[in-house]
Amino acid sequence: MIYLDYAATSWPKPPEVLAAMSDVLERAGGNPGRSGHSLSIEAARVVYDAREEVAGLFNVPDPLRVVFTANATHAINMVLLGLLRPGDEVVVSSIEHNAVMRPLRVLEQKGVQVTVVQCASDGTLNPADVARAVSSKTRLVAMVHGSNVMGTLLPVDEVAAIAHKVGALLLVDAAQTAGTLPVDMQAMGMDLLAFTGHKSLQGPTGIGGLIVGSNVDISQIEPVMRGGTGSQSELEEQPDGLPDKYESGTHNTVGIAGLLAGIRWLKSKDIEQIRAHEMSLTAALLEGLSDIPGLIVYGSKEHERSVAVVSFTIPGKHVSEIGLRLDDEFGILCRVGLHCAPAAHRTIGTYPEGTVRLAPGVMTSLDDIHTVVSAVRHIARS
Ligand code: ALA
Repeated sequence: MIYLDYAATSWPKPPEVLAAMSDVLERAGGNPGRSGHSLSIEAARVVYDAREEVAGLFNVPDPLRVVFTANATHAINMVLLGLLRPGDEVVVSSIEHNAVMRPLRVLEQKGVQVTVVQCASDGTLNPADVARAVSSKTRLVAMVHGSNVMGTLLPVDEVAAIAHKVGALLLVDAAQTAGTLPVDMQAMGMDLLAFTGHKSLQGPTGIGGLIVGSNVDISQIEPVMRGGTGSQSELEEQPDGLPDKYESGTHNTVGIAGLLAGIRWLKSKDIEQIRAHEMSLTAALLEGLSDIPGLIVYGSKEHERSVAVVSFTIPGKHVSEIGLRLDDEFGILCRVGLHCAPAAHRTIGTYPEGTVRLAPGVMTSLDDIHTVVSAVRHIARS
């Protein structure tokens, strides 16, 4: 089997991740931050260690500004639903995932103005277009860092400066970039960053987070969920400090332990080297596919402007048929269709059918890529 669906979730996970998840259940099975006994304290230590690792990874000085969520979608919803009020404007790109667009379409019905900045047909975004779109009403600019459809990176650092000029915050959806390239929240000017644990951070599904930059006034972001936090239990009102304001209910300790082990594993490998490996795989894939008559590849072809996600179509063949044949005849696993991002497909001209998406990752080899290119060539011919 060749697994080329890293953009949906990474697999296989490092053995250290599986071991850490089982270990936390055996050794630290208490409820973190709730009781005072040793198992609870051990669990709380795992949660805190993970906060520190996440903060270190994104260069965030205060680990308490790392809020654990179920996934990136949860983190994005927390910001959009908690921050935006009727009369506010939010600016987004035209390649956003439905994690951003679906909550925004609901907010639009309630009087939030949603302004979409058009990307080029390869998904690239001209920062000057964002500068023209923002206004004094803009409360938030929300943008994907790397597209889950064609891998194109958006210039989030330049967009940050533009957002800040009009007093808006920048929320970055780093689902596809966290763990595949260095992301320094401070240097890149990000105010809020949503990440997921189960993609390139190598953790399990069900764990992600929101990082709240030190300049963000959290009194402006209402929690979308309230409840027990293990702190200030005398109050029936939600505590207003971080991370408790946004972390009600028992944590996903097992997921957090897996995330912690995943980040430690990544650090032991060096993210720059992983990036170089993934870019060489992507280059080989693009080169191999470019030789196949009729096949169309989407997205930016410049490596420094993309992550390891390659989308293609073959005119005259349905993407679902190509995906099925890759799986049935060659054991190659990928994702076809709209990838929960219809806006991105409209932008690149592949709506409503979508594309075949090949997303290699850290455990993919160059031999795998050569096998995949031969398989696609075979399918294109027959
Ligand atoms: N957003 C993920 C994907 O692109 C799940 O497949």
